[in-house]
Amino acid sequence: MFGFLRNWRYRSRFRSFGKGSRFKGIIHLLGAGDFICGRNVRFARNITMKASRGGLIEIGDDCLITDGVYIAAEKSVAIGARTMLGPKVMIFDADHGIAPGIPPRDQPTVPKPVKIGAGCWLGAGVIVLRGVTIGDGAVIGAGAVVTRDIPPNTVAIGIPARVIKSRE
Ligand SMILES: CC(C)(COP(=O)(O)OP(=O)(O)OC[C@H]1O[C@@H](n2cnc3c(N)ncnc32)[C@H](O)[C@@H]1OP(=O)(O)O)[C@@H](O)C(=O)NCCC(=O)NCCS
Repeated sequence: MFGFLRNWRYRSRFRSFGKGSRFKGIIHLLGAGDFICGRNVRFARNITMKASRGGLIEIGDDCLITDGVYIAAEKSVAIGARTMLGPKVMIFDADHGIAPGIPPRDQPTVPKPVKIGAGCWLGAGVIVLRGVTIGDGAVIGAGAVVTRDIPPNTVAIGIPARVIKSRE
C-alpha cells in the first residue's frame, strides 16, 4: 500500500508519465521545472532529479535509471529510449560563471542542453557536463567525465572522455 501511494505521489509530479514505468525506492524530484517520463522506465533507489524553473528533464521509453543517479537541468536534459544510466551517474546542463574577481557563487549560471541518445550505456560514476551530446548507441566507461560530444556507436573512457573504439 505504501509503495502504491509513493508511486502515485511521484507520478503526479511528472508532466507526463508513461504506462509501465515504476519506482523501486525513493526519488527526489526538485525544482519548479518539468519532468517527462516515457513507458516502461525503471527508476531504482535514491535518485535525484532537479529541473529548475523553465527546465525540462525528459526520459525516453524503456530506460533504466539505477541507484544514486543525479540529474540537474536548468534548460534541458534529454535521454533517449533504452538508455541505461549506471550507479551514481551525474548529469548537469549548467555551469556557474567563472569570470575572475567574483566568486562563482555570485555569477549567473550558463545552461546548455545535454542530449543523450537512444540505446546508450553510461557506466558507474560517469559525469556528463553542460552542452554535451552523446550519440545513439554510445558506451561510456565507468568513471569518465564527458566534456565534449561523443559520436554514435562508440566506446569512450577516461577524463576527459575519449573514444577508444567503434561499436559498428
Ligand atoms: C568501457 C567498458 C564497457 C569496457 O569496454 P571494453 O571494450 O571491454 O574495454 P577493455 O576492457 O577491452 O579495455 C580497453 C582499455 O580501456 C581501459 N579501460 C576499460 N574501462 C575503463 C574505464 N572505465 N576507465 C578507464 N580505462 C578503462 C582498459 O584498461 C584497457 O586499457 P589497455 O588497452 O591499456 O589495457 C568497461 O570497462 C566499463 O567501464 N564498464 C562499466 C561497468 C559499470 O559501470 N558497471 C555498472 C553497472 S551499470
